[in-house]
Amino acid sequence: MELFAAIKGRRSCRDFLEDPIPDSDLHEILEAGTYAPSPVNAQPWEFIVITSGAVKERIFSEADRCRLWAMEKTGWKWLGKYQVNFLKTVPVIVAVIGDPEKTGVDMFQEEGRVGYQHACAAAIQNVHLAAHALGYSTLWFTLFDKKIMRQILGVPLEKMPLAMVCLGRAASEIPAVPRKELKEKVRYIR
Ligand SMILES: Cc1cc2nc3c(=O)[nH]c(=O)nc-3n(C[C@H](O)[C@H](O)[C@H](O)COP(=O)(O)O)c2cc1C
Repeated sequence: MELFAAIKGRRSCRDFLEDPIPDSDLHEILEAGTYAPSPVNAQPWEFIVITSGAVKERIFSEADRCRLWAMEKTGWKWLGKYQVNFLKTVPVIVAVIGDPEKTGVDMFQEEGRVGYQHACAAAIQNVHLAAHALGYSTLWFTLFDKKIMRQILGVPLEKMPLAMVCLGRAASEIPAVPRKELKEKVRYIR
């Protein structure tokens, strides 16, 4: 798939078929993740590939708890209609774990360790685009408490569960979400 077609054609999917993903495709998708840039090439990401129904069920329970908590906390009524049942049926969830020790000069700067998160975000986007190029759909999912997710996945305290990438074939057409005009987002200094 042509790169710009992949970038513009990717959509967040929240309705997946249960068909499994061949290991060779998974390998290609995750390898694309590792080609992301990172501060001092520290490669701060780890991927946990989850296909276990029992673990998906626990991730669903945590996400649903977090959804209700967020609705209460934010007052955002749409969270009442938003459902996370796809977490139980999606064939693969890739947990992306970041290592705050593997960051750059930012660790000495006022804002603290952010570089490792940026690098993991780049890896996550690569995973999304590679999956899309192979005909899969994805969702970048973050509605969970990091402490609870560490317990579910057996991740030590020093590491940060940053995102779950849901990965599978879309069960239905996904409408495009509009983008703002580029001119609203760009300022030139010439
Ligand atoms: C950091 C980040 C966190 C996100 N968390 C969630 C999430 O928890 N649940 C969800 O349904 N979508 C989540 N999304 C997906 C966004 O809702 C989606 O990208 C946005 O609405 C634009 O739609 P598109 O991806 O189809 O272009 C997240 C995206 C990003 C980048």
